[in-house]
Amino acid sequence: MNFELTALPLSDINSDLEIVFVINKDDSHHFVQDTLLLKKAGFEAGQDETCLLVGEDRLYVGADTLTSTAIRTAAASAIRALKGTAYKSLKVATYTNKGCSYTLRAMVEGFILGAYSFNTYKSKKKKNPIKHITVSLEEYADFTLEIEKASEAIHKAQIIADATNFTRDIVNTTPDDCYPEVMATIAEEMAQQTGLHCKVLKPKELRKEKMQTLLAVARASRHKPRVIHLSHKPKDAKCVVTLVGKGLTYDSGGLSLKPADFMVTMKSDKSGGSAVIGIMKAVAEMNLPVEVHGFVGAVENMIGGDAYKPDDVLVAKNGKTIEIRNTDAEGRLVLADTLCYAQQEVKADYIFDFATLTGASVVAVGNYTSSVMGNNKEMQALVVKEAHNAGELATALDFNRYLRKTIKSEIADICNISNTRYGGAITAGMFLSEFIDEDHAEKWAHIDIAGPAFVEHIWGENPHGASGAGVRMMVKLIENLAADKSHK
Ligand code: BES
Ligand code: ZN
Ligand code: ZN
Repeated sequence: MNFELTALPLSDINSDLEIVFVINKDDSHHFVQDTLLLKKAGFEAGQDETCLLVGEDRLYVGADTLTSTAIRTAAASAIRALKGTAYKSLKVATYTNKGCSYTLRAMVEGFILGAYSFNTYKSKKKKNPIKHITVSLEEYADFTLEIEKASEAIHKAQIIADATNFTRDIVNTTPDDCYPEVMATIAEEMAQQTGLHCKVLKPKELRKEKMQTLLAVARASRHKPRVIHLSHKPKDAKCVVTLVGKGLTYDSGGLSLKPADFMVTMKSDKSGGSAVIGIMKAVAEMNLPVEVHGFVGAVENMIGGDAYKPDDVLVAKNGKTIEIRNTDAEGRLVLADTLCYAQQEVKADYIFDFATLTGASVVAVGNYTSSVMGNNKEMQALVVKEAHNAGELATALDFNRYLRKTIKSEIADICNISNTRYGGAITAGMFLSEFIDEDHAEKWAHIDIAGPAFVEHIWGENPHGASGAGVRMMVKLIENLAADKSHK
């Protein structure tokens, strides 16, 4: 899908179809030329509601407001409504809110995100038919958008939405086609295309780095683990950001085997790592003046004669001993070592980890929302704010000293599961905090994306399956760090 920006009015543009957004159905001053036809079709211009007037070659879509969220989902809904049609090109106006470009950015994101479909395993591939979108600076309101601002908005939206779709593709790929070695290859190829540096650690190096907990989780799989380190080091870097992702290419639960119903969709347990790869792609393509490092712990959690066991005690890279009581709480073990390695390699101003870490996060906040934890409330608030700005849902969950006691162990430094059935997202987050060193303690936030990373129905601009959760929120956050002058 490519975009073209023009100062020509809509009527002078040759396209198969025009898309008209109807903003706020109760606000009658918006000009709609097909009033009678739309009435006949029963179109009420509710949020995301579409009406295709084939005879007129116009598609109408409702949006309640000019907020990014409303425009983004409306655009996604509009582009989806064209699936199966013969339309190949379309034209649309900019709908700026008082000359601001964010509505245009949201619209372009919505088109690209909404047009996504995962076709790899379909013998008949049904792709969205729209190849070309012409955006006209013509406005229905009094304000017009400057062409430079508009062009920049489109460019950024394309990079971010493409990176999100890139992440979705990795996550949706089956465990037999995407195992740790493949994940590393995907990262290496992306790095080559974008000019990032990429280092991949294989078992030999992992042993040398004393990443025994990660290696233990990986042991029963025929697919050997990898730790991926992508880096973006611009000359004019304003600050240093480290990203760490859980890349469980499959989570069977290990010897604490998951029940059959819970095992389905566990190809999505690599969502955190896949998000990190997607974020790095966008950061490189936008050439943001921030030094960014992305680390992924890519591992498969399987059963077998060589599997690690409940009752084992493992030694993490930082020397802490961990009593294993459930091999299905494996993500925190992989992250423990990967976080230690990341902190050894890079002294960062900010450190964020992304993981489909707990079912408890989904129970707590639902399918659509990420939960954000950490030792520092400002860090949590920063992530929540930027997530919302970028069109993702996130909410803070706070640590407390009572829950911290529940991950104590009688025989080791810490236990990999809590002794209470409640508050599982928080206890998992507090487990991770044991592997954050003093220097990074206040600079770290943990983002549990177990809810939104993979949902088996369409929601907003997201498709069935992988959503690419984490990508938009973090690119937005890093973008703001790049623009901000006040740094540590
Ligand atoms: N990958 C799962 C968490 C998960 C569950 C992600 C559902 C997405 C959807 C994780 O490794 C896991 O199994 N966690 C256990 C922890 C428990 C054993 C303490 C869980 O949440 O049940
Ligand atoms: Zn698990
Ligand atoms: Zn897992």
